[in-house]
Amino acid sequence: MNHITTNEICTCTMCKNNNTTMSIEQCPQAHHKLSLSELIYFIDLSLTKCDQLSDQIDPGFTSSCSNEYPRSLIMSLLKQYGSHHPKDWHKYECWNGTETYTRNLIAHHSNRFTLMLVCWKGGPSPIHNHAGSDCLMSVLRGIVRETKYYIPENEHNIEKLDVKEIVEMQEGAVHLINDHIGLHKMETLDENQQAVTLHCYIPPYLDCFTFDIKDDDIETNIAHTTYDTEYGKTVS
Ligand SMILES: [Fe+2]
Repeated sequence: MNHITTNEICTCTMCKNNNTTMSIEQCPQAHHKLSLSELIYFIDLSLTKCDQLSDQIDPGFTSSCSNEYPRSLIMSLLKQYGSHHPKDWHKYECWNGTETYTRNLIAHHSNRFTLMLVCWKGGPSPIHNHAGSDCLMSVLRGIVRETKYYIPENEHNIEKLDVKEIVEMQEGAVHLINDHIGLHKMETLDENQQAVTLHCYIPPYLDCFTFDIKDDDIETNIAHTTYDTEYGKTVS
């Protein structure tokens, strides 16, 4: 952490958005390496005025909440956190021997956000939507590949899913997905690679749709949000 000897009031984007009057020395956004607890604190602070987000828990393709919270600020916080090779997320790192990826809950505020660490070791997630929420993601280790699909016109009668884009994201990258942008699946580049990603869901959601491509058919299911670990402890 840098040590700055000044009492000058910080005017960075985060302090201005939150009407915070902290000194440059105190402000983690502008001058310090964010810790995980500081990241959680500032995400929560940024969403304090956004209680209307709580009404948007729906597994379908509802409208996005993107205009109702400071998305760019939170993306910059995730970028800042992931850019200095932090190690304090390691206590949430869990690799389940039988699963291709492991979901580890770090923080949850029912009306505002969920923060989750995902450990990838080959094999894709299901193709899924995000239930009207935003998923802001930072790559903490390795490289992940996203295959993005166009949103089907009729969510109740899906005949095919068309690939919109394939993106590879390196360590330090930040990324956004929501139901306006598309559906997606995530995976590592191959089975021998590991990757770790940090996901912030705004607002949290309980259920989303998953899509399984079978020959000429698309099977749609509702997936309930579950975790392999919660707050560093295995879920029994
Ligand atoms: Fe996703």
